[in-house]
Amino acid sequence: MPIPPPHLEGEENETTSSTRWRKTGPPPRPSHFAAQQRREFQGVVVMADLISAEFIQSLSSSTRDLSEAETLPPECYTSAEFYEFEKEALFNHEWLCVGREAWVASPGDYFTTQIIGEPIVVTRDMSGTLRAMSSVCQHRAMLVAEGHGNARGFLCPYHHWAYSLDGQLVGAPAMGKTCNFDRKDVRLPQMKVEVWMGFIFINFDDDAPPLAPRLRNVEAAISNFDLANAEGPRPGPAGKFPWNWKVMFENNNDGYHASKLHHGPLHDFVPSHLAEFPDSTPADAGFLRYNGTLHPDASFNATQKALLPLFPSLSDADRNRMTFANIPPTLSLVMMSDMVIYLILRADGPESLEQDTGLLFAPGAMKDPGFQHKLDMNMAAAGAIIAQDMHVDELVQVGLRSRFAPRGRYSWQEGAQGQFNRWLVHRYDETYRRTTRG
Ligand code: FES
Ligand SMILES: [Fe+2]
Repeated sequence: MPIPPPHLEGEENETTSSTRWRKTGPPPRPSHFAAQQRREFQGVVVMADLISAEFIQSLSSSTRDLSEAETLPPECYTSAEFYEFEKEALFNHEWLCVGREAWVASPGDYFTTQIIGEPIVVTRDMSGTLRAMSSVCQHRAMLVAEGHGNARGFLCPYHHWAYSLDGQLVGAPAMGKTCNFDRKDVRLPQMKVEVWMGFIFINFDDDAPPLAPRLRNVEAAISNFDLANAEGPRPGPAGKFPWNWKVMFENNNDGYHASKLHHGPLHDFVPSHLAEFPDSTPADAGFLRYNGTLHPDASFNATQKALLPLFPSLSDADRNRMTFANIPPTLSLVMMSDMVIYLILRADGPESLEQDTGLLFAPGAMKDPGFQHKLDMNMAAAGAIIAQDMHVDELVQVGLRSRFAPRGRYSWQEGAQGQFNRWLVHRYDETYRRTTRG
């Protein structure tokens, strides 16, 4: 399908579909790409939008075979306009991980979270149904729930509108004189929910096809970990980081830096040259990276070996590699023989994200009397490695804002970046076509 011609600022009006994803707000940060897009329109020089047919077309060079590909333009990581576009291209239609089903095991359990600025409450209602809803009160937009806990419903603290666990408004004081108001017509907006391997995913798109059929390859690769039955503590408070969500996602995708940034006794047993990248297609909801290890049951601690009970059904192949499973734009898994680290990335701006960092173990592993001491050894090593990654992530974002930020080239050890680029650009391209069709 041909790519539509670029549009100019002055050609748009309120009714064009290309404005659907746009949001009134501060103009995008000037960038060297945008500076190249100055156009004369009706005798006036205007600054064209970043998102144009040429820009979208320029992304295709990131989807080529890795030997020929280049990185995405820096603006994809820094531009407020691109972030708004990306909300429509990715976050409004993809399945987004928000937590673990174990966090809402019993009727009345709930937890709250946020992604792309949308406050969400996940509940187990009294009939046992798992629900995800906006937590925005339908009176004057106070949030009806914070944190997590167990409750029979939610009472908005502002004017005491009361909602049941399924989101129905069940009480609204002093509203008897209000015309055409029936509390039965009011409920917290609901989102689709799907549980995959114990992870709760939501979707803002009521017409989104199910997630699991598009994760068959990932599911087959990690099925021996039996994550649906894995156990782990609820993560602590979310981290908040000043970089684009893709910088974080790509860092976790990246086999190239393992033997460089992390060179030393805590990481050398997972060398970059043993990276493998199973095939995926952009239609898949996720993709994989394997990284062979120099000995079986390798784990991140000073002994370099698993200390905690192993996941009981692992194959020899599983035990001689680390598996990295990526389900963009929110979930990234680092899988070892005795521990799985999961990252739930929650974009909240063009240059910021929140992240829940959680751990999963084999069933019963946490009952080991030495569990906490052994885990402390793992976390001391993981903490040192993560600190190296965070330092890089923060400064990559600084570099991406520079006028000298490149569209760089890739090593073969960055195969997962190529898969991520194809996943992203497929959706950017489709969304641009859909939203400019008029
Ligand atoms: S904002 Fe919730 S009751 Fe008024
Ligand atoms: Fe790293």
